[in-house]
Amino acid sequence: MPSIPRVKKAVIPAAGLGTRFLPATKSMPKEMLPIVDTPTIHFIVEEAIKSGIEDILIITNSNKHSMENYFDINFELEQRLKESGKKELADEVHQIASLANVFYVRQKEPKGLGHAILCAKSFIGDEPFAVLLGDDLVVSETKPALRQLISAYEDKKTTILGVQKVKHEEVYKYGIVDPSKEVLPTDANFKIVDFVEKPKVEDAPSDYAVLGRYILTPDIFEKLERTKPGINGEIQLTDAIRMQMKERSLYACKFTGERYDIGDKFGYIKATIDFALKRADLSYKVRDYLKHVI
Ligand code: G1P
Repeated sequence: MPSIPRVKKAVIPAAGLGTRFLPATKSMPKEMLPIVDTPTIHFIVEEAIKSGIEDILIITNSNKHSMENYFDINFELEQRLKESGKKELADEVHQIASLANVFYVRQKEPKGLGHAILCAKSFIGDEPFAVLLGDDLVVSETKPALRQLISAYEDKKTTILGVQKVKHEEVYKYGIVDPSKEVLPTDANFKIVDFVEKPKVEDAPSDYAVLGRYILTPDIFEKLERTKPGINGEIQLTDAIRMQMKERSLYACKFTGERYDIGDKFGYIKATIDFALKRADLSYKVRDYLKHVI
């Protein structure tokens, strides 16, 4: 059997304006908002690395310098920490710069998710690649969510969309897949026959939403180049994936793990509380405090 190319590269679109988190995002990227003390982008990069990704391209805009600085070495800070006896903290800060090979390209105009992915065309070349959206944070005690999608790709050898079931009344917020048949609780992956971006609740073909994880085959770029502006006047990745569907089978991977919508204020607060409750240095105090306020 011919071998398939390995998924080694990932794209993280991070050029959004972050309007849901204004005024904080007036002067800082939303990807740098911390969950306790770690920027959200750190968790996304970590998931990619743990899934076997070697090179990461972050799609940025002119407001995102602090993200580039975060994945770089800060010599002065490290020096000062060492001088004040905080060697462990200095090492921790240093480590971040060696997490991954991170590259950047700017999306010059905010023309949507599909347009952002198109900015990755020359970086990706002719290989399958992963996409991770920064608003979707997934905590998995077993395999990272992206690793689960890569396994599905290795099995199906085609575009894979990472999905989870959402509440029926919330389908209008997401890309929703149409399964080819009834999805059984035991199906880890299932074939899809259609994919619609943000349908009306009454029109949604299922409750399975694409939640920020994709494995795409490189023919997506040619489709994106032909994609006309769709919902919100933006070039939608969903529309380009629908074009792919006319030429090849597409699969959904029902990934496991707790997913937080950290692009939403309540989702962000939930993630902060859950992460704090899992930390040895905070868990007791936070639990005690919560008991008092409710
Ligand atoms: C994007 C995608 C949508 C997907 C969602 C997941 O929408 O277009 O298909 O379901 O991310 O978070 P956005 O939330 O950027 O509007």
